[in-house]
Amino acid sequence: MTDQARKSDGGKFIRTLAGENLQPPPIWMMRQAGRYLPEYRVVRKSAGSFLDLCFNPELASTVTLQPIERFGFDAAILFSDILVVPHALGREVRFVEGEGPRLEPIDRAGIESLVPGNSSDAFDAVFETVSLVRNRLDADKTLIGFCGAPWTVATYMVAGRGTPDKAPARLMASRDPDSFQKLIDRLVSASADYLIGQLEAGADVVQIFDSWAGILGEDDFERWCIAPTAELVRRVREKIPGARMIGFPKGAGLMLERYVAKTGVDAVGIDWTVPLDYARDRLQIRVPVQGNLDPLILLAGGERLDRAIDRILDGLSGGRFIFNLGHGIVPDTPIEHVERLVERVRQR
Ligand code: CP3
Repeated sequence: MTDQARKSDGGKFIRTLAGENLQPPPIWMMRQAGRYLPEYRVVRKSAGSFLDLCFNPELASTVTLQPIERFGFDAAILFSDILVVPHALGREVRFVEGEGPRLEPIDRAGIESLVPGNSSDAFDAVFETVSLVRNRLDADKTLIGFCGAPWTVATYMVAGRGTPDKAPARLMASRDPDSFQKLIDRLVSASADYLIGQLEAGADVVQIFDSWAGILGEDDFERWCIAPTAELVRRVREKIPGARMIGFPKGAGLMLERYVAKTGVDAVGIDWTVPLDYARDRLQIRVPVQGNLDPLILLAGGERLDRAIDRILDGLSGGRFIFNLGHGIVPDTPIEHVERLVERVRQR
């Protein structure tokens, strides 16, 4: 168990979640620990497989801290992956260089054979990373833990890989909703264990990544995105009252307001397609908003980057706001563009 004193003392990030409107706003980037950083690539090479790196607390804590040391972000995000949850459930998970994740696709029989019960033993190495990072991180910096939302993780489990339109999971959800519901329920339980363990080990806040929420129609969004996320939030808070949780339902568009109202998340991440006046008038009045620079504008750099940063700051600085990208940073992004971003946001 971690004593409270070692946790974040209410740095800018936590103060924003608690309701303050800070100028300049706190800033971090999704996927900030990763391949665009030369120091990450060095550690990655020495670690063996990608999962070996995720399960090596010494190396994983080192790469978690790299972007804080280089750019001084207000928050560190745990280095791990959303697919450690299917791994903990006994599914084969591999990361193929240059191609992405490969899993053994799950079918009805596979879902039946997933063992209910406590999956947390498999997560112990990740929890150790969390406590190492929290001990090494300054008190005014926030440590973000995370998991994938049940829907997004299920898309990889059913297809066995990333797919453009998530057709395999959408088809199973339509043809065999009872089996798909069982899969989602197992993911809710395992993800709750995973987040509770991270919070107990010292994470100050957790983010739920629903990267593929935007592919779902209205009814499916209610059933496969909102309902499981609401249940996940409820279970975590049942164990850890007051647990701070950020939801990121990428692509949710007009469903964002409903997502915020029904899931009970403390803050919401938005991608770059969300109009800033909608974010301000419909979301920021309820919860702090996090986002939403297009990662490709960051990659491109130059004048357009400056204008895009200013536009976001002008649009959202009137309320509770955390500066971030609208999705993860892409590996080719030049370091100087990230430096320019941090400098410009901090000038405000
Ligand atoms: O810096 C951070 O944000 C912390 C670490 C982190 C990783 N993955 C490390 C990683 C986080 C928060 C994730 C989340 C994640 N993983 C998501 C949700 C966010 C999003 O981007 O939508 C998803 C969908 C995944 C699944 C995943 N992991 C894919 C599709 C891939 C392959 C594509 C790619 O970018 O390579 C991964 C691999 C992965 N996860 C890498 C990293 C740094 C690259 C692998 C490597 O370094 O060898």
